[in-house]
Amino acid sequence: KIEGTLRPRYLKEYIGQEKIKSTLKIFIDAAKTRGEALDHVLFYGPPGLGKTTLCGIIANEMGVNLKVTSGPAIEKPGEMAAILNNLQEGDVLFVDEIHRLNRQVEEVLYPAMEDFAIDIMLGKDSAARSIRLELPRFTLVGATTRAGLLTAPLRDRFGVIQRLEFYSPEELCVIVKRSAKVMGVEIQEEGAWEIARRSRGTPRLANRLLKRVRDFAQVKYDGVITKAVADFALDILDVDRLGLDNNDRTILLTMIQKFGGGPVGLETLAASIGEDSGTLEDVYEPYLLMNGLINRTPRGRVATEAAYVHLGIPADGGEA
Ligand code: ADE
Repeated sequence: KIEGTLRPRYLKEYIGQEKIKSTLKIFIDAAKTRGEALDHVLFYGPPGLGKTTLCGIIANEMGVNLKVTSGPAIEKPGEMAAILNNLQEGDVLFVDEIHRLNRQVEEVLYPAMEDFAIDIMLGKDSAARSIRLELPRFTLVGATTRAGLLTAPLRDRFGVIQRLEFYSPEELCVIVKRSAKVMGVEIQEEGAWEIARRSRGTPRLANRLLKRVRDFAQVKYDGVITKAVADFALDILDVDRLGLDNNDRTILLTMIQKFGGGPVGLETLAASIGEDSGTLEDVYEPYLLMNGLINRTPRGRVATEAAYVHLGIPADGGEA
């Protein structure tokens, strides 16, 4: 599967997130020197920036097994207990969307993370008692879109908390060229650059766009990804010069045309575009904020002048 090889497997192959890499390298080296499991790690930030990839790298670098699950996949405390009990010494357990664990399941994690033990209840009422089951020392790696979504007791049990940032176009360009090499497709510098700067700071999107552009290159051109093919394909895919897709543009257009550019509350805006407010806040807003297309104010979100300029709407003619 191409997916597997597109993901870097070691820290030195990983492009970008320099602060996270240097921090992780120190903790990994220290844990390995001591022969211990790495402390629990929480990654947060918008989707597609490499949380899962970094977790795979941690397991690889530590030379341990990786077990992958997610918040919504674990419904009962017993399921979490079984997963933990099946881990081997030093293993990494990755819990994606960890903010979506339900309360009872989350409570199994507290003693597991802190004391490497789980308390199992036996019997009920006056006969109820609990026995403590020792676990191997393991590393929990959690991922979430916002650290603020976690309960304090869970967040406090992570020794390392790292936020992933959007990638620069330069970093994405290196990633696109690396991925093209892995996929065995020839790419010109300008072609890679075009894909990079239209990938909204997100490697997952860069790799997805690269695959689609490659399809166009193979069918319509002679298989080489040039700037012309990239431009042609990306225009058809409705990815604009800033990397905004239809969803991003709908958000900006709605703010401008329905709400006079704002301020408009998050919930109101979400409802009028038919999107869940959490998704709007965690998936769409971060990139628009970073690009200065919207601002957060105490009274709600506002579209900036840059948004009007980008969409080609005169700043006083927003009322459609
Ligand atoms: N593929 C996806 N993300 C990557 C990254 N950060 N570095 C290298 N290759 C990648």
